[in-house]
Amino acid sequence: MQLHEKIFELALKRSFFFPSYEPYGGTAGFYDYGPVGVLIKHKIERLWRKMFIKSEGFHEVETSTVTPEPVLVASGHVESFGDPVVECTKCGTKVRADTFVEDVHYRMHGEKWDGRLDSLDQTIRDGEIKCPRCGGLFGPAYMFNLMFKTGIGGDLAPAYTRPETAQGIFTAFPRLFRNHGTRLPMAIGQIGRSYRNEISPRKGLVRMREFTQMELEYFFDPESGGYEGFRDVEKQKMTMALDSKKEEMSAGELVEKKIASNQIMSFFLAREWEFYKKVGIPEDRMYFRVLGENEMPHYSKANIDMEVESSFGVVETIGNAYRTDFDLSQHAKTSGKDLSVHVEGRKIIPHVVEVSMGVDRLFFCILEHCYREKTKEKDWEWFDFPPVIAPYHAAVFPLMRKDGLDKKAKELTGMLREKGFDIAYRSSGSIGRRYARGDEIGIPFAFTVDYDTLKDDTVTIRYRNDGGQERIKIADCDSVLRKNIQEGKVTL
Ligand code: GLY
Repeated sequence: MQLHEKIFELALKRSFFFPSYEPYGGTAGFYDYGPVGVLIKHKIERLWRKMFIKSEGFHEVETSTVTPEPVLVASGHVESFGDPVVECTKCGTKVRADTFVEDVHYRMHGEKWDGRLDSLDQTIRDGEIKCPRCGGLFGPAYMFNLMFKTGIGGDLAPAYTRPETAQGIFTAFPRLFRNHGTRLPMAIGQIGRSYRNEISPRKGLVRMREFTQMELEYFFDPESGGYEGFRDVEKQKMTMALDSKKEEMSAGELVEKKIASNQIMSFFLAREWEFYKKVGIPEDRMYFRVLGENEMPHYSKANIDMEVESSFGVVETIGNAYRTDFDLSQHAKTSGKDLSVHVEGRKIIPHVVEVSMGVDRLFFCILEHCYREKTKEKDWEWFDFPPVIAPYHAAVFPLMRKDGLDKKAKELTGMLREKGFDIAYRSSGSIGRRYARGDEIGIPFAFTVDYDTLKDDTVTIRYRNDGGQERIKIADCDSVLRKNIQEGKVTL
């Protein structure tokens, strides 16, 4: 069984995620998060907010997901946001042509697909590629637009569910610029759902039709690509995949060697590296890659993506794009509004560096990289989540459900919940079994209330990774828990 199959099985059993609309057989590309998954997802989002919005004093918005057509005509999504498709002339099966032929194309030409539809047709002919379902011949490749179309109001004015949260930020920018200081740089972030009608999604959370993005648009004067926070990260190293070779480079080197478009882009790469380490992606399983001309989205002048190795192969989890003034200029043209701003006596359209992360893909990569097999010491499969993203910060267990132990344990649970911690309270089953169930969903700490607690107001704290235990005062549980979470301490 491949790791992603195992993860899927555990996800179903342990309420991480499961197919949406299950009684109807599910629909490919749609997944629901269960109670445990929701807690983890919220923690990933909370950490992103802390590291990408609050620490820098940036703004956050929440914009509409239904988008009138003119907005997406302006942004180029109506024209260009698609994947190439081929359709079987015999049984009508549609497949995504680029992924379907990419291996054959690479073997035949020694390079990646060049983005042209006619070269896909050529590869299909030369490689004698046939329909996987019926063996029929394919018709010519064409572009399939990935947006879900809808209509607004009684006259169904054409609209789409948004393919990225970014357009809501671009269209909100003029008001936010006026309301919040009329100064550049200005950065605006958003966490929310986006929608892509993927042709044949098969990789669980990696390719969803409805998914959550965490996006940040950094608006700046193109005459100044500097960023004041850059000095703090200048020496920070990260792995870059350049010409298929991996190399460690500092944020400073990325700017010096002109690999990153400017300090802003390099700052965000360094921040992303830290963020990924904090959520549990090992450094040797992730890297940044500079995209080639043919791989970049239509709005981007330069793209550096984060890629994470997984059992599905490499998963692209972050796109960093230098979007220049493309979007604001397009919206100015289409809306007829002047969207330029005045800075230092000049009238300019701000440029934008975008950081765009998929939450669900990251969630999946975290599950894979934090998964641990059974061992002699631990006879159960478990998750080694960093405490900062674990579903529950701790569990509280009364040793027995009698003699006042349960009352004391509930008091401790209430006190910790009051302080803002997510606490799982379990009172049934043997204590060993409760520890195991906690490990299985990655709870890093467990407080056990026993008969000594009634005498001296102490409890044991058990650490998930080594099962080590120590005795601490109930009055110290809050501070010990806070410190352990902050330091990522998971062994005694
Ligand atoms: N905003 C970039 C993307 O959705 O891919």
